[in-house]
Amino acid sequence: MALKDKLTVLATQAFEECGLDSSYGLVVVSNRPELCQYQCNGAMAAAKAAKTNPMAIAEKIAEKLAPNPIFSKVEACRPGFVNMTLTGEALAEEITAMLNSPRLCMPEEPRKKIVLDFGGANVAKPLHVGHLRTAIIGRALTEIGRFLGHEIITDVHLGDWGLQMGQVITHSSDLYPDLPYFNKDITSGYPEESPYTVSELEVIYPEAAKRFREDPEFAERAKAATVELQTGRPGYLALWNHIHRISVEDLKKNYGRLDTDFDYWYGESDSAPYLPRVIKVLEDKGLLVESQGAKVVEIESTKADPIPPMIILKSDGGELYGSADLATLIQRVEDWNPDEVWYVVDTRQSLHFKQVFTVAKMAGIVSPETVLIHANNGTINGKDGKPFKTRAGGVMRLSTLIDSAVEAAFAKTAEGVVDMSEEEQRETAEIIGVAALKVGDLINHRTRDYIFDLDRFMQNDGKTGPYLLYSAVRISSLLKKAGDTQYNKASAPVTATETSLMLSLLNTGEALTRSFAEKAPNALCEALFSITGWFNRFYMENAILTCPDEAQKASWLALLNLTNQLLRLMLSLLGIKVPAKM
Ligand code: ARG
Repeated sequence: MALKDKLTVLATQAFEECGLDSSYGLVVVSNRPELCQYQCNGAMAAAKAAKTNPMAIAEKIAEKLAPNPIFSKVEACRPGFVNMTLTGEALAEEITAMLNSPRLCMPEEPRKKIVLDFGGANVAKPLHVGHLRTAIIGRALTEIGRFLGHEIITDVHLGDWGLQMGQVITHSSDLYPDLPYFNKDITSGYPEESPYTVSELEVIYPEAAKRFREDPEFAERAKAATVELQTGRPGYLALWNHIHRISVEDLKKNYGRLDTDFDYWYGESDSAPYLPRVIKVLEDKGLLVESQGAKVVEIESTKADPIPPMIILKSDGGELYGSADLATLIQRVEDWNPDEVWYVVDTRQSLHFKQVFTVAKMAGIVSPETVLIHANNGTINGKDGKPFKTRAGGVMRLSTLIDSAVEAAFAKTAEGVVDMSEEEQRETAEIIGVAALKVGDLINHRTRDYIFDLDRFMQNDGKTGPYLLYSAVRISSLLKKAGDTQYNKASAPVTATETSLMLSLLNTGEALTRSFAEKAPNALCEALFSITGWFNRFYMENAILTCPDEAQKASWLALLNLTNQLLRLMLSLLGIKVPAKM
C-alpha cells in the first residue's frame, strides 16, 4: 500500500472514533511541503455537514493521530487542516519496503477492459506532426494502464476508406491507364506486386490531392471512385490492397521509431461490413431521417451546447468518417465487449465525438454503462502560435520532425565527452532525440497546446528529455562504481534534501494512478522531474562513494538503488528509452 493510503487508513479510523463519517479521512500529499508532508482536509467538510467548528474537529483528529510513533508532528491548522510529518525512521522503512517489493509497492487497480483508439494514421498519406501527440500520449496510457492491471486493447483505426483513396485511384488511372485495375472488364487475376513503391506513392498522393483541390472535374471523378471502392469494385479493391499494404509497412517503421505499436491495425474499411447493421438499428429505432438526400440522425441538444444532426449516409451513398466510427463500435462490442473506449484524438474533433457517442447511446450500439471518452489532445504549434508547419508553410512530416531531433542529438553526442564509436553515437542520438520529443510533449497536459521548440527540448537543464536521461545514466554509473552489491536497506534521512528525495519516491505511485485516471501522463512526467531534481541535488551535496561511514554509505546507495529502479520503470511506462551512456 502506498504511504498516502496507509495514512488515509489511520485518519479514517480517527474520524470513526470521533463518531464522524469515515469518508472524511482521505489523506493527500501536502501542497505546502514547507509546512508538512501530508495533509487531511476532511475536518472542514465534516464540520460543514455537522454545522460545527472545523478547527475543533481538526484538533480532535490530530490528537488521535499524534501518539502514533510514525509521526514526528501532527498539527491542526487553520481553518481546519490536519498536517502530518513523518519521522525519518518511518520514511526509511517505507523506502526499504519499496526496495524489497517486486512492483516497488506501486499501486494495482481492479481490472477494466479498455479499448484505446489512438494513432489515427491514414493510408496513402504520410504521418505528419498532427500524429505525434496521439502516438506519444496513447503509447504512455497503454503501458501505464497495463502496469496498473488493466486489459488495454490498442487499435490504430487507420483512415483507409475515405476520399484520399478515391483521389489516388483516379490519379493513378490517369497516370497508368493500361493497368488492369481500371479496366471494368477485368475482375480478377490482378498482379501480385504493387504497381508502385511507397516513395512513389508519396509523390502520387500530393499530386492527386492538388488536382482534387484545383480541378472540379477530377474532384467529381475522385468522389465517384471513392463510392465505387466502398461498394466493392474489384479492380479498385485490388489496387487499394496494394496501397494499403505498402502504406502500413511504412507506418509501422515510423511508429517503430517512436517505440509504438498497436495490437490491431484495423481501419475504417474493417468497419464496412458492420455499416448495414448501423443503418438497421437506426431505422428500427426510427432515428434515421432524410435531409437533402442524405440520411441523418437528429441529436437533442441545448442552445448552450448545440450539436448538429449527424450525417450517416451521404446523398451519393458514400460512407462517412462518423458512420465508420459507429460501425467500428459495433465491431468492438462484438469482438471485445469493453468496459470503456478511449479515443486519443485532437481536440478539433470534439464535435465529431460528441455526435458519435450520443448516437451510439441513442441507438443502443453500446450499453448505457459503456464509458466512451474523447481523451482530446491539444495542438503542436510553431513559434507564431499557429499549427506547426515547415518553413515553406507545408505539412511537417513526422519522419522529418524525428530526423531533426535525432540530428540535433547527434551533433551533441559528437561534442560530448563520452567515448563512443560512430555507430554507438547514432544509436544514442536516436534514443536522445526521440526522448527529447516525447518529454517536450508529455510535460504538457494532454489538452494544452504547446510550441514546438527543438532547442529547448534538447537542453540538458530544465524539464527536458536529455535531463531525465542524464540523471538515469548518472545514477546507474554511480551504482556501478559502488560495486554490484544489492543495497536494499535505507536508514533515516540526514538532510532535508534526502528527505525530499524519499518523499518524491514515495509519492510516485499517486502520480501514476492520477495519470491514468485523468488520462494525463504529464502527472507522471512531473513526478519524474521531482525525483531527478532531488536526486541531482542530493548527489551534489553528498560525497556518496567516498563517505567514510560505511553504514551511511550503504543507506544512501539503497536510496539510489530505488531511485534508479523507479525512474527506469516509470520512463519505460512513458515510452522513453535510456541509453547505456551519454
Ligand atoms: N484518421 C483520423 C484523422 O487523421 C483520426 C482517427 C481517430 N480515431 C477515430 N476513431 N476517429 O483525423
